[in-house]
Amino acid sequence: MKRVAILISGGGSNMLRLVEDMTGDHPCRPVLVASNDPAAGGLAKASQMGVPIAAVDHRHFRGDRAGFEAALLEPLLQAAPDIICLAGFMRILTPDFVQRFQGRMLNIHPSLLPKYPGLHTHARAIEAGDAEAGATVHLVTPDLDAGPILGQTRVPVLAGDTPDTLAARVLVREHQLYPAALRRFAAGDHTPLYL
Ligand code: GAR
Repeated sequence: MKRVAILISGGGSNMLRLVEDMTGDHPCRPVLVASNDPAAGGLAKASQMGVPIAAVDHRHFRGDRAGFEAALLEPLLQAAPDIICLAGFMRILTPDFVQRFQGRMLNIHPSLLPKYPGLHTHARAIEAGDAEAGATVHLVTPDLDAGPILGQTRVPVLAGDTPDTLAARVLVREHQLYPAALRRFAAGDHTPLYL
């Protein structure tokens, strides 16, 4: 059984879908949900589902990214995860941190990578006149949103879309993609999944 820790910053809807999926014959179990924001809505939801939680407030470490990561490592190392899933985790991790978990840290990003790494992905897709948008699950490497792709899902960009309407359409598909990509990855299949 593989141990999975999930890092979140907000509502944690992707985290919830991952946790809900990790039952029965799933090769993984959730061992920790951690956040950089003690007020992240997802923490209470994870706790209600019986998953241990931890919060390390990044605002206590202004200008000290290494200090923040050292504090985040404490509950993480205690949970001893085999796999870490970033699910709406909005802090950039240093190469040191990433390398510690290289090859076993996944992220979901709301664009069709390699298009639009970073922030404001939906606004950028609309602005560019793209016919399609989507989300990508990828392995985390020291380069932001640039690691090997494990899965991707596409939706149309519709006339009149705003960043919010497009984000909502993409999020529905994220909820299908991330659990499926994690199952596949945990089973040792690292070929990309297209949904
Ligand atoms: C998701 O759309 C995820 O792809 C995105 O944040 C949202 C989190 O929603 N992640 C990023 O932008 C990472 N750079 P959730 O908290 O409801 O899962």
